[in-house]
Amino acid sequence: MNLKKSILTGCAALLIASSCSTPEKKVSWPEKAVENARAQIGMEIDTIEASGKCLNPVTLNGKGGVYYCGYADWRSGFFPGSVWYLYELTGDQTLLPLAYKYTEAISEAQNLTWHHDIGFIINCSFGNGLRLTAKPEYKDIMIQAAKSLCTRFREKPQVIQSWDVKGNSWQSERGWECPVIIDNMMNLELLFEATKLSGDSTFYNVAVAHADRTLEEHFRPDGSCYHVIDYSIEDGTVRHRHTAQGYAHESAWSRGQAWAVYGFTVCYRETKERKYLDQALKTFGFMKNHKRMPADLIPYWDMDAPGIPNELRDVSSASVIASALYEISTYPVENPQSYKEYADKMLESLSTPEYTAPLGENGRFILMHSVGSIPHNSEIDVPLNYADYYYLEALKRKKDLEK
Ligand code: GLY
Repeated sequence: MNLKKSILTGCAALLIASSCSTPEKKVSWPEKAVENARAQIGMEIDTIEASGKCLNPVTLNGKGGVYYCGYADWRSGFFPGSVWYLYELTGDQTLLPLAYKYTEAISEAQNLTWHHDIGFIINCSFGNGLRLTAKPEYKDIMIQAAKSLCTRFREKPQVIQSWDVKGNSWQSERGWECPVIIDNMMNLELLFEATKLSGDSTFYNVAVAHADRTLEEHFRPDGSCYHVIDYSIEDGTVRHRHTAQGYAHESAWSRGQAWAVYGFTVCYRETKERKYLDQALKTFGFMKNHKRMPADLIPYWDMDAPGIPNELRDVSSASVIASALYEISTYPVENPQSYKEYADKMLESLSTPEYTAPLGENGRFILMHSVGSIPHNSEIDVPLNYADYYYLEALKRKKDLEK
């Protein structure tokens, strides 16, 4: 073969080789995160379906198994909600009947009046179902749930009471009269939705009254918030500023900060009142600029925990903050892109093997390393279904923003 011929043959071989071999598709970390979540939650769905029951996974049960809850547990809406988000993220039609089934299994929660968490429960499940499929009966359930939540509104302090204080519960031992926890901000979205669905402004007014009083009483000058404010039922004054799940009354319990950032962002969305967005930004600023915020942006369970850096992280607080930041990045704030970039960094950290469990492990929950309540010695360094829910919501918000 002469030189010219051999060059031509070599070129032809190269051309054939390059046209035959498919170039390796580069999968981005968010795509991998969604694929992994679909596979992991898929395994839990298989377990539930094989049981023949409508189980509702929350966390690990301490014996190597999964703890499943009933409809009245404050966390009962998160697993149905996660299935809705996975359906949306993947377009996988096989998830749709399951999302309906798991959601409808907790419909009795619409009548709960003995705690405030009905907003979490119904909005994350039926609220997402309604958003995605417009089922008319879901609308009635949302409105009934909002009515149930409003039974807890207390006239003098102008707040929705979080916990009952009668009986033998641990809350009754604290000497509180009308405890309101910062978490309660997360229940207001249900009320805003109920006003839009019913045309009845009562729900909206209750939400705004609660948000306004919380804005006045729950925050310290540095932007961080208390966990529990206890009000007098009789004259509405503040009786105590306490914690229940944080390290100390004056400490910054990380999930509480996350609920504040997210809750006041929702209030801004629904009212366009700047003061709510400003509070969300201030509380987020407190966390972001905290000298003890770790480099991977996953907060310690309490930013004042005494053993930092040897304290546990709380992945759930990172998921909630990341989701809220994607929303904030769409609002009129200075350098909106910086909020998205911060959320991206948080999500990318959460999506590493440091926090994302290997398939089939971790009770088939997506994320590891959350903290329920250290003072109650409960759910310490475990998966929690709400960490997964807000992680999926954040992935969905990121995807929408990048469309
Ligand atoms: N709402 C209860 C918690 O954040 O642990």
